[in-house]
Amino acid sequence: MKPDRNPQLHMIWPIGKPLASEELEAPVGYSIRTYLPGDEGNFLRLTIEGEFDRFDWGKLQFNVAKVIPDGWFFATRADTHAVCGTAMCLHNYAGDTPFTGDVSWVVCSRTDRGHGLGACLTARVTRRFMDAGYSRIQLHTEYYRLAAIKTYLKIGYIPVIGSSALRSLWQETCERLDWPFTQDLWQEAIQDQQAHAGTTWKSAASADSQASDP
Ligand SMILES: CC(C)(COP(=O)(O)OP(=O)(O)OC[C@H]1O[C@@H](n2cnc3c(N)ncnc32)[C@H](O)[C@@H]1OP(=O)(O)O)[C@@H](O)C(=O)NCCC(=O)NCCS
Repeated sequence: MKPDRNPQLHMIWPIGKPLASEELEAPVGYSIRTYLPGDEGNFLRLTIEGEFDRFDWGKLQFNVAKVIPDGWFFATRADTHAVCGTAMCLHNYAGDTPFTGDVSWVVCSRTDRGHGLGACLTARVTRRFMDAGYSRIQLHTEYYRLAAIKTYLKIGYIPVIGSSALRSLWQETCERLDWPFTQDLWQEAIQDQQAHAGTTWKSAASADSQASDP
């Protein structure tokens, strides 16, 4: 059973930051492709492995309606072509900057973890948003999804910390991951990004309240 604790963690990509090309390469033994008809079943199976809140057909349709073209990725095993991972680029205008993209539903099969597939899928989604000109690329996750959080930090996503509760949660999470807690640097990057996009964001608390899982 999932631990019950809020709020969700919010991370953004520092716009203008380059994406390391090696992150985009599929790990040895795997390939990455975009959506093919029939992948809905593969996706639903993976959402169970990801322990996401239950997906039904309606929730799938809600998400599919927001995927950008060529923005739904699937990892496959090179030998069998079996689907073993996925991630989505979801367009998610939330009231302030129009070109907001959410990295969503990053997951791989339990048997295929530990090879860097999560990083590769996240990098592909990030690259797709960059190529499409998105001015805010972000994601939400839960504090207990440590493999995902480490993946996002390693690629270059930075935490958005808008409350003391989030500060404590991030401090604790960084300790668990043995990752430096550099709130001042993260804040500077966020301010640069706001200046770049020419927007001031709604408070992180308000963004949190609109977040969907994950
Ligand atoms: C997120 C996910 C795709 C990552 O899978 P993966 O690419 O195989 O990632 P790994 O298992 O290699 O873990 C990534 C890193 O986290 C570390 N890690 C994993 N579990 C950890 C834990 N419990 N505590 C600390 N570190 C952990 C790994 O050691 C690895 O670190 P490294 O890159 O320095 O070696 C996979 O864990 C998954 O499908 N999780 C369930 C769904 C989910 O949580 N999705 C995120 C939704 S926001």
